[in-house]
Amino acid sequence: MDVFIKNAREASCACDALILPMTEAGPSAYGSLGPSVSKLLKKVFSREFSGKKNEVLLVPASDDLKPGRLLLVGLGNREEITSETVRQAGGRAASHLQGAGMKTAALSIRVLSGLKLSPADFIEGSLLGAYAYRRYKKENNHKELRAVTILSRPSRALAKEVGRAKTVAASVSFARDLVNTPANDMTPSHLSREAAKLRGRKMTVRVLERKDAERLGMGTFLSVARGSHEPPKVIILEYKGGKGAPVVLIGKSITFDSGGISLKPADGMEKMKYDMAGGAAVLGVMKAVSESRMPLHVIGILPATENLPGGSATKPGDVVRSINGTTVEVISTDAEGRMVIADAMGYARRYKPRAMVDIATLTGACSIALGNEAIAMMGNDRGLIGRFSDAAGRTGERVWEMPLFEEYKEYLKSDVADLKNAAGRNGSLVTSGWFLKEFAGDAPWVHLDIAGTAWTEKDKPYMPKGSTGIGVRLILSVLEELK
Ligand code: BES
Ligand code: MN
Ligand code: ZN
Repeated sequence: MDVFIKNAREASCACDALILPMTEAGPSAYGSLGPSVSKLLKKVFSREFSGKKNEVLLVPASDDLKPGRLLLVGLGNREEITSETVRQAGGRAASHLQGAGMKTAALSIRVLSGLKLSPADFIEGSLLGAYAYRRYKKENNHKELRAVTILSRPSRALAKEVGRAKTVAASVSFARDLVNTPANDMTPSHLSREAAKLRGRKMTVRVLERKDAERLGMGTFLSVARGSHEPPKVIILEYKGGKGAPVVLIGKSITFDSGGISLKPADGMEKMKYDMAGGAAVLGVMKAVSESRMPLHVIGILPATENLPGGSATKPGDVVRSINGTTVEVISTDAEGRMVIADAMGYARRYKPRAMVDIATLTGACSIALGNEAIAMMGNDRGLIGRFSDAAGRTGERVWEMPLFEEYKEYLKSDVADLKNAAGRNGSLVTSGWFLKEFAGDAPWVHLDIAGTAWTEKDKPYMPKGSTGIGVRLILSVLEELK
């Protein structure tokens, strides 16, 4: 979808549909569009359309307008509108227009401007809402919204905001594509090739092979890879847009999680292709960081492997040693995410990071606690945790902090090793966080569990069914404030 900015009048713009955002207060802002439009809007308002949040109505335009249709999109109560409301309206508008076969649209900014809201948020939502994954479909009958024109006097500020929205949306779409790709194609090798495409623009990409990981002593990572014939990879991206200590981002990249010997139930197992959503989010962030030339030093680490049962797979009861020397008793081979992240965190500490962030589809308990509405967050640094809470407010990618009480340490005590990798159902969201905390050392660290939010079973306003690309916008927003 292309985005244009054009200083044109609503009535005279050549497009399939004119988008009119509207609050519950009614259509009065569009009075200047002429008497016949006013009459039309007054007629539908409160009967077919009441301006409620995310409500949409597509109607034929009156004859004095060049656009064939009007798309009314609700913003709700004007007192309660936030940037997230606008983003959602943008998403709903784009997906509705696309479904109706509209190819081009124009956005009237009268109401948004009146409320001091940014059309760029609307556009960000539209770009995200128009996303579709159809790589494996034979038919090519997909309807596509090709362009949206913002009807505004062009300005540097607006062009910059829209440029940012495009970069961000492209990075989220990139992450979504990776996650939606089935595991027979999305192998650790494939993921490393996708990462390698980001080379250049101050970005280096290197890949640790199995033998490198062995030499480094990444025993918890390698224990997960033992059951699979696909070679495991630790993918390391380094973007040097600034000097000084780096921010390290770690993304869980299990390209398929069968549970291993602690095999998962068959029902719904196909979804476990999304167990690399953390890694995809990190790649999305790295792409945006380099495209927007952020003045920061950022490192992305993706510990990538399949988790499969097999003749040489790790067994419950096995004890393995992590890169930092900590030994771990494997209680469940299905608690593999923390095993691969632990080694990545241990490796990351050699960079003496100013901040370490891991993002992972780590626990089923995350969705039990929060459903599909928020990321579970844990960490060891109030300042960094606060930055994520703030970014959640800006981006609509909500986070909810879970506690890491000292007492949880007990839960992970093993009789034979320093730690066990699973402590049972009781408190399993927070014990997974506590496990990771043991590998953060003194680095300021935040853990983001996206198990409930990385995938959606139903269309959301700017997230079509499937992979959501969650985390990309949140982390980017934190980085933007760091520089
Ligand atoms: N990848 C799963 C977590 C998951 C489950 C993500 C459902 C998305 C949807 C993870 O590796 C896992 O299996 N976690 C176990 C941990 C347990 C064995 C301690 C879980 O949550 O059941
Ligand atoms: Mn698992
Ligand atoms: Zn997993």
